Amino acid sequence: MRLEMSSIIPKPVKIVENPDKFTLTKTTAIEAEPALSDIANYLKNLLHPATGFDLQVKGISKGDTTSNAIILKTNANLDGLGTEGYILKVNQERIIVEGVETVGVFYGVQSLRQLLPVEIESASIVKDNEWSVPCVEIEDYPRFRWRGFMLDVGRHFFAKDVVKKMLDLMALHKMNVFHWHLTEDQGWRIEIKKYPKLIEIGSKRKETQLGGLLSKEFDGKPHEGFFTQEDIKEIVSFATERFIKVVPEIDMPGHIMSALASYPELSCSGGPFEVSTRFGIKKDVCCVGKESTFEFLENILEEVMDLFPSQIIHLGGDEVPKARWKECPECQARMNSEGIEDEKKLQDYFTNRIVNYISSRGRIAMGWNQVLSDTLKENVIGQFWMFNKKEVLEHLKKGRKMVMSDYFHTYLDYSYIMTPLRKTYLYEPVPKKLEKEKHANVLGIETPLWTEWVETMKRFGWQTFPRFTAGAEVGWTPKRGKNFKSFKKRLDFMLTRLDILGMYHAQKNEFNPRYLKRFIGLFYRHKRPTYY
Ligand code: ACM
Ligand code: ZN
Repeated sequence: MRLEMSSIIPKPVKIVENPDKFTLTKTTAIEAEPALSDIANYLKNLLHPATGFDLQVKGISKGDTTSNAIILKTNANLDGLGTEGYILKVNQERIIVEGVETVGVFYGVQSLRQLLPVEIESASIVKDNEWSVPCVEIEDYPRFRWRGFMLDVGRHFFAKDVVKKMLDLMALHKMNVFHWHLTEDQGWRIEIKKYPKLIEIGSKRKETQLGGLLSKEFDGKPHEGFFTQEDIKEIVSFATERFIKVVPEIDMPGHIMSALASYPELSCSGGPFEVSTRFGIKKDVCCVGKESTFEFLENILEEVMDLFPSQIIHLGGDEVPKARWKECPECQARMNSEGIEDEKKLQDYFTNRIVNYISSRGRIAMGWNQVLSDTLKENVIGQFWMFNKKEVLEHLKKGRKMVMSDYFHTYLDYSYIMTPLRKTYLYEPVPKKLEKEKHANVLGIETPLWTEWVETMKRFGWQTFPRFTAGAEVGWTPKRGKNFKSFKKRLDFMLTRLDILGMYHAQKNEFNPRYLKRFIGLFYRHKRPTYY
């Protein structure tokens, strides 16, 4: 029973709870190795607002024997914990957080944060609270090395403060990849110095479709927004401080009407176009016949790679209709000269050229599973979302690395009728038919938030939480350690944390609808529009 007392999400690999507690006071010291001083200060700043304590940060004085201290250190010899693992020991005298590397210490600090009363999340002093931590011994490390959240800022723009809030919440959940979907038919959101019209024209639309894909209703209100290169540097640095990699996605050759509206010469027909106001898949895509298309996209990627230190660059590649290529003399001429037999293979040609460009700059390309082909360079990472599970399995078997985000389990834009919390929680990213020695090719999981129908922060939070929290546990906790009943108990604490942090979330009676309600709800889907 005591084991259930700790509310940590994601559930640690091993946790032993002992009687007694450690109590934080204004004289508690934070002792850290010099290389961990940033984390020590992060912890100090995390504890300050609610407690009012201005804890002293100093070097390690007496090894593990100091009293009334939180001791942070690294230990490369912790056996079997991997690069992100940590040990957290709390007794009445002191708290010791020991990581294999710095990142492990950071995760140990996040577990410590969740062992404190939830009021620790408060932005102002909470009076007369006892800041105690139960005595525990935790040994912990993640199941997957890719624990991601994707945010689409193209369909609806969400500004820097929202992105930072999500990065903070990712850190709380020990998630480590922020996949930033920066460009869409409905909006181009990243400043590219060489092509200013991408912002002047591409970041604005005149109105927005309301009420679902088939609806003819529009809000009549302009919508716009973009991130300057300075904003992006600030966000990347904020993420890095939280051990989160930012993987930018520039979706191509489809989902790119915002760029075609700005530079119509990139298309097959020459336009004119406008930034899309309706959602759904657009027929107009980049022309693959023209050399200027490649020059344009490569110049964009050059600036993107300068801004993002990420080893991995996502080129999208999903949902590319072939109709325009079939009618375009230049695309057809390309197919003739290169001996390309059909338009599906023309997309492979396009992908391979962009991949080669990204590789030539020392980076690794990533794409949605529609870019998978026999000719795709072997180090390109795939991201599974829909269609052709068999092909994905074949690629995994042949050694390709994949991130799993099956739309039916992990897409946060779905209603809870379609995807209740339980379904996200029970998601198993490793395909059953994949041999054990190939499991490592599954890098991990992502929970994507597509924002066609997400106009407000209330809706944002409602769609995202708590399925995001379930996704975090799928990414971290060993398969054998997962238990939905235990998760739901621990979730109560997380939901209260979200309340205090000012993030909206779905309520208990909403996120696990009963079967009858789900069944009836399927007939009323248009009331809560989902993309698909
Ligand atoms: C996708 O949902 N179109 C990747
Ligand atoms: Zn063309």
